[in-house]
Formats: sequence, C-alpha cells, structure tokens
Amino acid sequence: MRLEANVSLQRFNTLNLKVRARHFVVINNLEDLREANAFCEQNLCPWLLLGGGSNLVLTKDFDGLVMLMAMSNIAWPKEPLCESDAKFEVVAEAGFEWDLLVQRSIEAGASGLENLSLIPGQVGAAPIQNIGAYGVEIKDCLKSVEVFDFKSAQVFTLLADECEFGYRDSIFKRKKNWIVTQVTLGLDRQHEPKIGYGVIKDTLAMLNDVALKKPSAQQIREAVIHIRREKLPDPKTIPNVGSFFKNPLVTDKKYQELAKNWPKLIAYPVQGDGETQSYKLAAGWLIDQLGWKGFNKQGVGVHANQALVLVNTGVSSKGVDVMDLAQRIKENVAANFGVELEVEPRLFGSRGEIYL
Ligand code: EPU
Repeated sequence: MRLEANVSLQRFNTLNLKVRARHFVVINNLEDLREANAFCEQNLCPWLLLGGGSNLVLTKDFDGLVMLMAMSNIAWPKEPLCESDAKFEVVAEAGFEWDLLVQRSIEAGASGLENLSLIPGQVGAAPIQNIGAYGVEIKDCLKSVEVFDFKSAQVFTLLADECEFGYRDSIFKRKKNWIVTQVTLGLDRQHEPKIGYGVIKDTLAMLNDVALKKPSAQQIREAVIHIRREKLPDPKTIPNVGSFFKNPLVTDKKYQELAKNWPKLIAYPVQGDGETQSYKLAAGWLIDQLGWKGFNKQGVGVHANQALVLVNTGVSSKGVDVMDLAQRIKENVAANFGVELEVEPRLFGSRGEIYL
C-alpha cells in the first residue's frame, strides 16, 4: 500500500470539485484494503471509498483516508456453457469501468445490460444505487455481490435477494462499513430486447430507418447512447453526477390533486391498484415547470436539456454551492407542488457521509 498525503481529488469526482484528501491510497487488491483498514484503526481515521466519483458530492476537504478503488479484474466463464444454459456468468471487480463491461458483454454475445449503456462510473457502484435506465435495473441480472466489511475486515458474499434492492436503493446505502469489491452477473445467451420505453422504439426506428421488431443488443446500445448523449451532459465536458434527485413517489390522492392543477403532469403508476396505487413523478418535469432549466450562478447550475441534472462549469465552485442550489430547488418544488425531493448522489463532509 502506497500512502500519499494532501492529494487533490478534483480529477476523481465528476463534478470537478476542488477538494483534497488528508491521506490517499490506490486499492489494487484485497490486501491493500486490509492494510488501509489497519491504518484507519490505528489512527482512528475516517475513510471514504471513491469509485468513478460519478455519484457523489464532496462538500469539504476530507479529513481522513480516501481509497481509490482500482481492483479491475474481470472473468468470463472459462468453459463454454452448455446449449441449454441460458445464462452467461461474468465476474467483475469493483473498479472495472461499467460501460466497458456493457460493451464487452455485448461483443461476447451476452445481453441484458444494453439498456444500461453509457452510465458513468464503475461496476462496484452499480449495485449500491441499483443503477437503472430505460426499463432495466442492475438487480434484473445480478447474481451476487462480494463485500469487504471495513469494521471486521472480513470478506463475504451476498446473494441478489439479500441486497434489498429498490428504486435507486439497496442495503449497501445503509451498511456504511461495507465496501463492494466484486459483482457477479448472469447475462442472457438468448437476447430478449426490452424496448418498452417509447423513446427507445422511436430512436431505434430513426437510427435504422425502419421500426425494428427484434433489435439486437448492439442496436439497443446504440439507441441508448444516442438518447443519453442528447439529454445528458458528458461529465468530461460539463461536470455533473447525473440525476441529482430521485423521482418522488406520491399517493394516489396526492397525484389526483396535482393532476387537477397541472394537467400536463408527468407521472407513472407503480405498485398495487385502487387504494394502494401510487405514482412516480418525473422530478425533472417538476423542476422544469418552475423555470430552473439553464439556470446558472457562478458556474453552478441546472443543465439546459435536463432539469434533473445539476452542473458545475465554474473554476472555483465548491460542493457547498452545489448543495445550496439543491436546497433552493428542493424548497421551491415543495412550496409549489407540496412534494419532497430526495437527493440521489451521496454527499460527504470532512469526516463522512452527510445528508441534505
Ligand atoms: N422532463 C421534462 N423536463 C426536464 C426533464 C425531464 O419535462 O427537464 C420530462 C421528460 O420529457 C420525460 C420525463 O420528464 O417525459 C422523464 O424524463 P427522462 O426520460 O429524461 O427520465 P428521468 O425520469 O428524468 C430517469 C433516471 C435516469 C435515467 C432515465 C431513463 C432517475 C432519478 N433518473 O430520469 O437516470 O437515465 O430515467 O430511464 O430515476 C441517473 O440516475 O443519474 C440517471 C440519469
């Protein structure tokens, strides 16, 4: 383990925030994690694990050890699976780049991840927030997750149904001592296209000049990449962490009340029916209605094409400026719609996770 002091984290967080770590180490294997763990125990030091840095906001310099996850081995099945076995098992370490995994799996003839193309970040972050896009969530093809417990320094495996997956949620958001080190996915040999999202169908037809009944995984990947590039800013050119808020869930009663006042309200019915029916509202639409799209104050603003994405284009903006804007938007939405928005990325102060 090579420990460094007073290291800039600017290039390790996609919001491009200028913060520093008191101690810093690159994690290449489980042994590095054990040594980092011993260092934190001995020095009573708080710690923070950084993956791709695409789903967190660093509001202050970190007064502890920042570990950069760089374990990136990947294993495809060694023996060809028999014809009747529909699943293709892939084991990837946490530091492997997510989108490269999607690309490689499609090239290998394994499908299931194509709708999750171009999501920034690493494999290890995927189960934590149960990444999802265009009708697919990682939980749909996840078999198990290997974890290093930073309290006990033990490694163990959790099966998918032990991960408590929900919308942008999992047990890993609650177990603060757990570090995801490896993920096992079961991918399909028989491709089942998931093109229920209107925008996917339309983009496939546009890119291929005809309406496709059974697009290939590669064609779906191309459509998803096209849509994401149009709507979402590339963090390399416009620093951001994707959707800044979750789409809020409201009761049927609340939905009816809102729909009466806002006839163009965008909402999707979820779970149950009748009395138990609830709705997921498009948070981007709510924020957009209040005129936030394109807002910018000293480099911290709201993306011009997607109101759910906060951006940092300033040279000296701070994480607290991003948090201030998020707070203003939250209050504005609550005052106009009576809906509480929940922040999606994880927020960190000088000694650990914080909440808005
Ligand atoms: N909308 C607006 N104005 C806006 C933004 C959106 O009117 O400024 C409308 C859109 O026209 C659309 C609806 O709101 O009718 C939903 O928008 P979109 O399809 O862009 O999806 P989203 O709900 O804003 C979610 C995920 C994205 C994911 C897309 C596609 C969350 C928090 N976000 O966004 O995930 O890519 O669906 O499945 O669930 C992320 O998590 O970082 C992320 C980008």
